[in-house]
Amino acid sequence: AYTAEPFVPRDADLAALREAAAGCRGCPLHREATQTVFGSGDAAARVMLVGEQPGDQEDRQGRPFVGPAGKVLMRALDEAGIDPTETYVTNAVKHFKFGHLPGRGKRRIHKPPSLREMTACRPWLAAELHLIEPEVIVALGATAGKALLGPSFRVGKQRGMLLPCPPLDGHGPAPEAEPRECVVATIHPSAVLRADDREAACQGLVSDLRVVAEALG
Ligand code: URA
Ligand code: SF4
Repeated sequence: AYTAEPFVPRDADLAALREAAAGCRGCPLHREATQTVFGSGDAAARVMLVGEQPGDQEDRQGRPFVGPAGKVLMRALDEAGIDPTETYVTNAVKHFKFGHLPGRGKRRIHKPPSLREMTACRPWLAAELHLIEPEVIVALGATAGKALLGPSFRVGKQRGMLLPCPPLDGHGPAPEAEPRECVVATIHPSAVLRADDREAACQGLVSDLRVVAEALG
């Protein structure tokens, strides 16, 4: 099975983790993408935001959420009373995925990651969660929700409420007997850009992020 596991150093700090991720070959996505897009932001953040996978701009620039979806996200955070500079931002899958059109080769069109790719890349996410130790983790959309909480996650049913903390699969302490709740799910910011009623979709995103702000106190 595809997995990043052998590439993830044990007891590494964030800089060493990022450096190792640059050389990950845990699944075939690294072959066509420009570079690994590792998480970035405040290492002491109380909030960690998890997206789906790098988009076109992120693939070119090497940083998460620097394109149009990132703009929506930063504005929504601000409106919810969360300082974007005090967050750590990452993705469930760390390489861009090219689409393929018959006879026309690799193309820069959006294709969501498969379950295999999400599973392969999850050790990086677990290692980031262990190092950042955020108080609240925000799942941005269905892919992030599934990567954090498993394949039965449904964003439509579970958004805007506190959900159980994700398992770290050996990349941190064993789960507590009495599981805490520290995940809040919402829609992906690019869903705001695709919505017929952008304003309503944006307000939905902001209201879910207010649940995060409240949890932080
Ligand atoms: N969409 C994502 O899920 N992540 C990014 O980093 C950019 C767009
Ligand atoms: Fe490794 Fe994840 Fe990139 Fe696959 S997508 S090569 S698992 S970093």
